[in-house]
Amino acid sequence: MSQAPSENIPLDLLASVATDAARQAGGVLAECTQTGFRIEHKQIINLVTDADHQAEQRIINVIHKTFPTHPILAEERGLTRQAPSRYKWVIDPLDGTTNFVHGFPAYCVSIGVERDGEGIIGVIYDPTRDELFTAQVGQGAYLNGVPISVSTTEHLGQALLVTGFAYDIRETPNNNLNHFARFALKVQGLRRTGTAALDLCYVAAGRFDGFWEIKLNPWDMAAGVVILREAGGRVTDFNGALHSIYEQELVASNGPIHQAILDVLQEDVTP
Ligand code: IPD
Ligand code: CA
Ligand code: CA
Repeated sequence: MSQAPSENIPLDLLASVATDAARQAGGVLAECTQTGFRIEHKQIINLVTDADHQAEQRIINVIHKTFPTHPILAEERGLTRQAPSRYKWVIDPLDGTTNFVHGFPAYCVSIGVERDGEGIIGVIYDPTRDELFTAQVGQGAYLNGVPISVSTTEHLGQALLVTGFAYDIRETPNNNLNHFARFALKVQGLRRTGTAALDLCYVAAGRFDGFWEIKLNPWDMAAGVVILREAGGRVTDFNGALHSIYEQELVASNGPIHQAILDVLQEDVTP
């Protein structure tokens, strides 16, 4: 059945298709850890595996079964736009590919849905812990069906922060190491998990107090920012302005420490 541009789809239906797709893709990833997978290099340290492609194909199949004409922006395949629609799916079939390849159990499937350009659904599934993070706009955020909320930490010195590094870390001085070095001396702890989508979920669940990164892609953030906002968190660019998943900077926090994170990112580091 093809959907008209004026379509109005119940959030519950979108969420249940996204959840089904995320769980199925998580199953594909788990299977690949048993059967093995091929690894290719997109760039020197940027890997892609059969598991990424197979999980992505499974997600697209599940979405197309219910919404055959919806545009889907998927990391490995790019944008498929079959007809004008109010809705767009933004998916990362495997966020944390480097971890996956090394057998380090921190990776996930991330599926976001936009309506008229606004993120309205976020579903992120961690198959190694069987943790499913979900959110629908205006209805709160959940971990395995239980409501979650951000931490109440008020001071950077008591905060556990997380960040990440882009695959061009060796090729440019704009590689986040300057920010990392400054934060390391100001916070209680600083982590780099290698999965931006789970980083956002962990801020949403109060496991981290804040997260920043400088060169993310839409599929890294689409689902996670919906979950984070619905858990009561704040997300902006480095200037504290409105965040867009189509711009690369992201600062996500519990709210109370947001300005302190922005202040460190904006510090003048010229000697
Ligand atoms: C990467 C992870 C990592 C982040 C990188 C992303 P991928 O995604 O989210 O945490 O630091 O910027 O590219 O390649 O594993 O899907
Ligand atoms: Ca990713
Ligand atoms: Ca990926």
